[in-house]
Amino acid sequence: MDSDYQKKMAAIASVEYIKDGMLVGLGSGSTAAHMIRELGKKVAEGLSIKAVPSSDTTAQLARKVGISLISLEEAGKLDINIDGADEFDGKLQLIKGGGGALLREKIVAYNSKFNIVISDASKQVERLGKFKLPLETIPFATKNIMTQLDEMGLRPVLRKNGSSVYLTDENNYIVDVDIFEKDNLVALNQNLINIPGVVETGLFLDTTDLILMGTADDTVIIKK
Ligand code: A5P
Repeated sequence: MDSDYQKKMAAIASVEYIKDGMLVGLGSGSTAAHMIRELGKKVAEGLSIKAVPSSDTTAQLARKVGISLISLEEAGKLDINIDGADEFDGKLQLIKGGGGALLREKIVAYNSKFNIVISDASKQVERLGKFKLPLETIPFATKNIMTQLDEMGLRPVLRKNGSSVYLTDENNYIVDVDIFEKDNLVALNQNLINIPGVVETGLFLDTTDLILMGTADDTVIIKK
């Protein structure tokens, strides 16, 4: 099964939702990168849009393919946001942040009127949590946060980049936790956010309007 082909198919389908004059949120990761390249082609053909990137890497790619970028502040509310996911379930709940961009991704999603997730078929799960949930944490508090997460039975692991600690675009750390045993994700998310120094979680529980999932021979639309 060629997951990159499926990601590209979902990305191609997603840019059809972008219309002239729209303010567009650009996600991060390899699936979003396909979408950004496809959108670049549409811009070259005359589509006029402005976009807000959800990571420095996405900003770089968007500039390269000729997409005009503005800040979130200038944009205010975005018309549409298109992003990838690490896992999604039947309720359109997501785990995101495998690429470390979850904080800006969640801010962009929150500030968008319509959120599309693009994905290959491997990301669809019965139950979220096989993929470790990323938490963005303030460096000052991270050791203490990890002790608390350990006490909560979440088996925290500090994300590394080679031998250094991984740093997000906002110069924070990422702690990956195991939530597979947890049933009430709304309560869990709230408990995590309540820990001082946890900036954001990769649980996107109610942001998604539509999922476009590429499969071997089709792109499937999944709605609430
Ligand atoms: C980035 O922080 C993530 O939320 C990505 O959206 C997610 O990891 C999906 O990545 P791929 O599209 O590369 O699978």
